[in-house]
Amino acid sequence: MATSDEWIQTRTGIKERHVVTEGTAASDLGVLAVQNALASAGKTAEEVDIIVGTSASPDMVWPATACLIQAKIGAKNASAFDVQSACAGFSYALTVAAQFVETGRADCVLLVGAEAMSRFVDWTDRSTCILFGDAAGAVVLERVEPGYGLLASYYGSDGNGAHLLRIPAGGSARPASIEMVEQNMHFIKMNGNEIYKFATRVTIDAVNKALKLAGLKKDDIDYLIPHQANQRITEAMMNRLKLPEEKMVSNIERYGNTSTASIPLAMDELWRSGKIDKGSVLLTVGFGAGLSWGANVIKWNKSKT
Ligand code: ACO
Repeated sequence: MATSDEWIQTRTGIKERHVVTEGTAASDLGVLAVQNALASAGKTAEEVDIIVGTSASPDMVWPATACLIQAKIGAKNASAFDVQSACAGFSYALTVAAQFVETGRADCVLLVGAEAMSRFVDWTDRSTCILFGDAAGAVVLERVEPGYGLLASYYGSDGNGAHLLRIPAGGSARPASIEMVEQNMHFIKMNGNEIYKFATRVTIDAVNKALKLAGLKKDDIDYLIPHQANQRITEAMMNRLKLPEEKMVSNIERYGNTSTASIPLAMDELWRSGKIDKGSVLLTVGFGAGLSWGANVIKWNKSKT
């Protein structure tokens, strides 16, 4: 294809990505992430009350990927469902998952973003196939002491922009057919320039509004974890927010855009690197098809030791 490593690195910040092998689906990656998260939290699959899944590249239209993961890990006491909001999925699903814990309806909630984006990429479309990667990330949510955990969330959507980023076929509007496949309509279609402009605009607003809801200032943020869609988008965002570069968590160069997995993947790396401790303030911000976006302010409750 007419592209180059230099073009990709300069325009996106991506150096390498991971692509699933034949026979591997989003739920298979989800299982690995979930097992790591449970081990980290010292929990067994039987202790999980609810599994909230989110995926822009689910195994199937339905059943929910969360149900497939439930069966594979043997979480027999859990109920399971998916939250669908494309690349903003983790941001929305985090609030949904946290509310079960906050209201006392569940003690242990597992949240997993699992992606096999390479399955939905048109490998002849150079404007999209260079961006996406496969990955999964998971977190375990439990009740924490007051003043910690998810402090505030802010969301927005603009369905008028739905046509800017979508997988047009395979749903009830354009069911799967030979014609749809011949036209590559079952693959990701994106207006990159418009998504770029949208992303820089809404993420800044979401960050400011989420901070205000949490009663915090920009200086209170220890780390900002943006959806890893494009290094240029996140750098532009940091510049406009006047936040120092060292506060931005970025791993896009090693994974590409992994949709719902990108924020938990970055969060996990940040945690395992030892850079955060109990009391650290993290701000996550996601955006994607919908159009939809959301920011969450988290006061980390887990001590390093
Ligand atoms: N290699 C070489 N040239 C390319 C490639 C490529 N892979 N892709 C596009 N080009 C060309 C275009 O054809 C165009 O050529 P022309 O001027 O001759 O017409 C030129 O490069 C510039 O194209 P632009 O689209 O303006 O390039 P841009 O700098 O905007 O970069 C990109 C494109 C990387 C897709 C950018 O628009 C982007 O990152 N947008 C946001 C995408 C995004 O974040 N998507 C996901 C968000 S939500 C979610 O996660 C699902």
